[in-house]
Amino acid sequence: MAQSSWCHCREKRDAVKLGVLIVSSLLCLPELALAGDWHVAGSSDCGDCHLQHGSNQRDPTVEGAFTSLLKKSSINELCMSCHDGTDPSAPDVIVPTPMYSSTPSGESGAGALVAAGVDNPNGHTIGLELPPPLQQVPALRELNCVSCHSAHGNGNYRNLLVDPAGIGASLLVEQGVNVFVGVRPANPPTSGGSIAAYSRDNIGYVSGMIEWCSSCHDELALNSLASAPAHFNAHPSDVALDAYPYERHTDVAHWIGGTGEGFAVIRQSQETPRLPFLASAATDFKTSRTATAESKVSCVSCHKAHGSSYRKGMVWPYLEENDNALSGCQQCHNK
Ligand code: HEC
Ligand code: HEC
Ligand code: HEC
Ligand code: HEC
Ligand code: HEC
Ligand code: HEC
Repeated sequence: MAQSSWCHCREKRDAVKLGVLIVSSLLCLPELALAGDWHVAGSSDCGDCHLQHGSNQRDPTVEGAFTSLLKKSSINELCMSCHDGTDPSAPDVIVPTPMYSSTPSGESGAGALVAAGVDNPNGHTIGLELPPPLQQVPALRELNCVSCHSAHGNGNYRNLLVDPAGIGASLLVEQGVNVFVGVRPANPPTSGGSIAAYSRDNIGYVSGMIEWCSSCHDELALNSLASAPAHFNAHPSDVALDAYPYERHTDVAHWIGGTGEGFAVIRQSQETPRLPFLASAATDFKTSRTATAESKVSCVSCHKAHGSSYRKGMVWPYLEENDNALSGCQQCHNK
């Protein structure tokens, strides 16, 4: 393909300074499915992250070479050199994220992390060794960006690792199958294109995310979702609002209506003031965003993948002292 030969020639030219490692591995990289949009073969400029050109050594932002010829001494630092808001075309993943302030929900799909090495009560903590909660055999783990994302891209949505827990899983979360997006980002990246593409309002979930999250939080694995000691009184995931027609705990008409209790008070999104959900039967972006009686509750209905402004990365302020604590619950239950 044109893309790989572009990379090939470019690397050959720099091979002497580069070191054989990078070049030979490039030539050996398998054909990757181009399902993610960035940091995948073709769009992956090795020099974004690796030291390779003579000119890099004169670049004051480059501190390396470090392990794997990386430009920065830690992976978090490397990724955050673009993803902390300094590069306007790279999605900002560190609080605050003003780039999304013009979007209906005001946030991205994943929400945001805090600086590496700082314990984050509002979501995932990176750069500190901590025990993962709701893991059957909690093994201390220090998370960094590549604990969850493949640096080199893979076939998954957002380049999510197929085996984040390292248990031999191969979890598929493919764009166009498990997740639909409305608009694609601009190529080459632009600020406006990235705001539109990574905004929460541009994403519709179908399946896959529960299995992905519960590979690390395996007390919530699918087969044990509703049994003790699952969290939060064993709140089910992957269950449709109309799952139990005779002893229903949900208010399907209220959910589909999308107004009133729970919808009015939290500014989840002006267009669709609704928590994220799974649309198992969706065939495109539009149907993935349409609330029905079969909408399913999922981890991402209640938690942001990176984090939020609220404790435990909740999508709404459930654990804070406030009048809106039950608003998210009310969207589905209206008690
Ligand atoms: C040189 C700047 C730069 C560095 C360094 C960088 N990124 Fe990115 N990244 C970008 C830009 C720009 C985009 C958005 C491109 C687009 O979508 O058009 C992006 C997009 C992404 C996406 C979304 C991809 C998709 O298609 O859904 C992920 C995930 C990501 N980066 C993770 C990482 C990780 C992990 C690291 C560190 C290993 C990293 N990035 C380092 C610039 C960078
Ligand atoms: C978005 C940043 C980023 C880009 C772009 C990138 N790499 Fe990497 N690369 C990394 C990181 C981070 C590691 C270390 C991974 C780890 O420790 O788990 C790495 C490791 C490697 C390694 C060591 C072996 C391995 O796989 O861990 C090779 C070889 C490599 N990269 C080659 C390349 C080539 C060739 C390209 C261009 C096609 C490229 N990389 C583009 C971030 C990047
Ligand atoms: C690579 C393993 C891994 C994956 C995958 C993972 N987590 Fe975590 N999670 C952890 C670890 C480790 C911690 C403990 C450290 C911390 O608080 O970040 C944690 C903590 C949490 C917390 C508590 C945060 C807090 O503020 O106390 C929540 C909530 C959470 N994860 C939800 C999720 C959701 C939802 C997903 C899927 C989008 C997910 N996790 C995917 C490893 C993982
Ligand atoms: C615990 C796992 C986890 C860790 C750690 C993590 N991510 Fe993510 N990230 C995700 C998931 C899951 C998504 C997709 C969320 C969605 O769309 O619902 C995502 C989405 C993204 C996106 C798309 C934009 C957005 O905000 O939705 C980018 C860019 C990104 N991550 C970069 C990073 C970088 C850079 C780091 C390290 C500073 C990092 N991630 C650490 C799980 C993680
Ligand atoms: C209906 C909303 C809801 C759903 C769905 C949900 N959670 Fe939670 N989760 C919560 C609440 C609320 C808390 C905080 C509980 C508390 O602190 O009392 C929480 C806490 C957590 C914690 C932290 C536990 C601790 O001890 O710190 C993790 C990890 C977690 N959830 C992961 C997940 C994963 C993975 C899924 C999907 C399989 C999921 N959650 C689905 C609402 C939900
Ligand atoms: C996105 C929709 C959604 C949200 C948000 C949601 N739930 Fe649920 N909830 C469901 C579904 C679906 C079921 C299972 C179907 C049923 O029980 O009728 C359920 C079941 C329950 C049950 C019964 C559990 C059982 O095993 O019998 C309780 C209690 C409950 N939810 C409380 C809450 C609370 C409290 C919140 C807010 C923290 C919440 N839910 C948020 C959809 C949701």
